[in-house]
Amino acid sequence: GAPVEVDVSGIKPGEKITVEWRGKPVWIVRRTPEMIASLKKTDPQVVDPNSERTAYPIPDYAKNEHRSIKPEYLVVLGICTHLGCSPSDKLQAGPQPSLPDDWQGGFLCPCHGSTFDIAGRVFKNKPAPDNLEVPPHMFLSDTKLIIG
Ligand code: FES
Repeated sequence: GAPVEVDVSGIKPGEKITVEWRGKPVWIVRRTPEMIASLKKTDPQVVDPNSERTAYPIPDYAKNEHRSIKPEYLVVLGICTHLGCSPSDKLQAGPQPSLPDDWQGGFLCPCHGSTFDIAGRVFKNKPAPDNLEVPPHMFLSDTKLIIG
C-alpha cells in the first residue's frame, strides 16, 4: 500500500478524523492541553504506560506517555487489540454510561468493554492485551503528516 498524506490543519483541538491506510482505519486526534495533561492521571491505570511490552513492533517515537511524535497529535489504528472490533469515541472527560466516573477521555470497545485512554493505552483488567497500534508515520511539515 502507498503512504497516505494527510493535512492535519483542519482538525480542531479535541477532534478526531479517520483516514484509511492499507485498508485499515487510522485515527488522528488533535489533543487539547487538558487531554495531554490527563495522561498523567491515567498513567497508573493503564497496563503499559510507555508501550514497552507490546506484542507488535511499535515505532520508537511511540514509546512514551503520549505515544506520538508530537504530544498534540495521536496517530493510532482504530482497531481493538482484543478481537479487532472498532472502538467508539469517548473523547470527552466526565461521567458517561459504561465508563468510570473519573473518565478522562478516550475510547470504549463495544464488543467486550475494553477501554483506552486518549493515547490509546489500554486500561488494566480489560480483555484487550495491548495498547492501540501506532502505524509508521512522520511529519513533512507542521501540518503535513504522512502515514506509511
Ligand atoms: Fe474489543 Fe473484545 S474486541 S474488547
